[in-house]
Parts: sequence; structure tokens; C-alpha cells
Amino acid sequence: LSADVNAPIVQYVARPQILDLGWGHPTPATLPTDAWAQAVQVTLSTYGWQAMTYGRSVGPGPLIDWLAEHIGTVDSQPCRTSEIFVTAGASHALALVGQLLVQPGDVVLVDAPTYHLAFRIMRDAGAELVSVPTDDQGVDPGAAEALICHLRRTGRRVSMLYLVPTFGNPTGRSLPAERRSSLVEVCARADVTIVEDDPYREIGFDGPAPGSLWCHSERSGIVRLGSFSKTVAPGLRLGWINASAGLITKLATLGYVDSGGGVNHTSALTMATFGASGAYGRHTDMIRRQYRLQRDSLVAALRTTVPDVPIAVPAGGWFIWMELPGGLTAAELLPVAEQTGVSFVEGPRFFCDRAGGSHHIRMSYSMLPPADLTEAARRLGVAIESRG
Ligand SMILES: Cc1ncc(COP(=O)(O)O)c(C=O)c1O
Repeated sequence: LSADVNAPIVQYVARPQILDLGWGHPTPATLPTDAWAQAVQVTLSTYGWQAMTYGRSVGPGPLIDWLAEHIGTVDSQPCRTSEIFVTAGASHALALVGQLLVQPGDVVLVDAPTYHLAFRIMRDAGAELVSVPTDDQGVDPGAAEALICHLRRTGRRVSMLYLVPTFGNPTGRSLPAERRSSLVEVCARADVTIVEDDPYREIGFDGPAPGSLWCHSERSGIVRLGSFSKTVAPGLRLGWINASAGLITKLATLGYVDSGGGVNHTSALTMATFGASGAYGRHTDMIRRQYRLQRDSLVAALRTTVPDVPIAVPAGGWFIWMELPGGLTAAELLPVAEQTGVSFVEGPRFFCDRAGGSHHIRMSYSMLPPADLTEAARRLGVAIESRG
């Protein structure tokens, strides 16, 4: 290869002295380069030029058909083909939903804590973000309803509520079943669209994931964002939106779809081949085992190196959310930890107003192999000890 080896290619920035638990990226060695190459070949020989021209607005039929059937196997209800729109991942899906549903100046309610990089996507649409009341189990539906009423009384338009209710980022927690139903009821009554960001559903370690809010609902007033970033590869930039057929039509008739065709068509069609051939199932079985091993390594190591801290073991996803001992703040610990050769993301970043989480850190076990996770936990223990 004559490529310039120094040309920047990926988002990840290596810091050689630091075991960085901050990145929510996949383990590089698990990315299915060979199986994907095979799927590309099969796709090109099966579909020829159709694989490389402008795609159908909602996404290619073979992927929509496979997804509809597949979603029925990983969630509590089947999904209709008319309820799917293919996107360039969950981030793009959120940007599109924001474009359609948010007017500048609207309030969008967000879980606290929740996925920090979603904040800017919604602010890009002109939203003002407000944290919804939560407790140890996640969003409190009754308090959310009271907040919506209060905001409306003060003249605000409240258009959406955003959350990651299944194996969430950053907590790893899932919203309990009774809260799923009551949140869906509250938001239906209040006419607030729930945006359910659901990229970790298929990375469960202890049996099936809880049924989605989407499946708890009448399929209107709720939008679910799906992604292949965690299950296959983020570089594909591929995901989907589940929404009512009416909203799917609005997405499919956006000007840029009219102009550019279905999103990411060649990758989308290749994903259909990857799914139908069984490669997707084999791959997700393998990564579930791998991420489970990595979760277990980090949990076991933390229990030794920070024995006084209770560690909530995530039943799925990529993250551990840990409260620091002895009143230590994440901001105090971070520079010391980095000097000791380990890093993490500080808790306040996961609150839209940065008003919570100062004693919490998020650690991701998705990227590093077990031996590195064990060493990272040792370094973290040393850093915490030195501040104790
Ligand atoms: C909750 C959540 N939503 C969305 C994303 C980004 O998804 P995508 O790569 O499909 O845009 C992530 C990635 O970390 C995430 O954790």
C-alpha cells in the first residue's frame, strides 16, 4: 500500500501511556472485515448495478424485509415494513427526527444522565434541553408529567423526550417494565413524542432485552432509533428509524432524500446480504460473548482495586457508571488518573445542564481487551487511593 501511514483516518486518538476507558468504540479485532468483504462480493454479483446507483427512498427492500423480521426476534412485538426508514446511524436518525419535530425554541426533555453526544444534535435543531426528573431506576413518569404541565403553563412548547432506556449509556441500566408503560401513557396524554435511542438492545448478556417503549406503545407518538454501529461496525454509518407509517412518509419525502435517494444505499443493501446469510447472527453471538468477557474482567478487577465501591453490574451494553468513594469528584480524579495511566469520562458530561454526576465516572469496557481492562482498574485504584 502506498497510502500515507500518517494520514488521519479514524476518530479515536491513541494516547500511548493511557488505558482509556472513555471511548465507547468497539474492540477493533472484533470488526467483521472478512465477513463484510464476502457480503460486498455477494451483493455486487447478486444485484449488479442496482447495488451502486441511487437507492429507494426508505431503504432497499431486502434490508427492510430482513429488518422487519429481525426486529420481531429481538423485541417483544413484530415490526411492519412500513414502519422502517434506513438512516446513516442513530445520530443521523436523531438529527432527522429533530429536523421534523422540533421548532427552534422548543423544550426537549432528556433523561439525566443520558448519552451526552445527543445533546448537541438536538440543540442543532434549535431545542432547549431540560433534564427530566429521575431516580435510581431512571425517568420518573409522574414527575415527567408534572414537569411537562409546568412548562406548558409557562407558555413553552415541549416537543420530545429523549432517553436510552435499554442498557443505557452511561449507566448500563434499563428502565423497569412498569415505568416503560406509564411513560408511554404519560407522553401519549401530553402529546410529547418519545425518542427511544436503542442501539444496545442486542448486546444483552443475561437473556433477552426488555421490550422496547416502541412495543409498549400504539406505534404513534414514539420514535425508536436503531443502529448497526454497536452490533456490526460504526464505520458503516448505518441504522434505522422505527416510527408510524405517517412519519416514515415524511422522512422519505424530505428534499434531500428526493435529491440523493435512500441513505447509504450500497452499505444498506450489503447489510441485507450480511443479515440474510446468517453472518449477522454469527457475528452478534460472538461479540456478545466478547463484551460479556470484557464486562466481567472490568467488574472483577474493580471489585479488587476499589473494594469499598459498590459496582452495579450492567446486564448489557458497553458501560459501567461508578460513584467515587469519599466525596471525591470526577474532576479532581481525572488529572491524577491520567498521570497514573488511565482515563474515563466525567459524570457531569451526561447531564444536559452539567448539574449532576460530579461524583460519578463512566467507564467503557467495549474497546480494550480483558488484560488491559484489569490493568486499567489497577491504575484507577492507585489514583483513587492517592486522593483518599
Ligand atoms: C446511546 C447512543 N446513541 C447513539 C450513538 C451513536 O450511534 P451511531 O453510531 O449509530 O450514530 C451512541 C454511540 O455511542 C450511543 O451510545
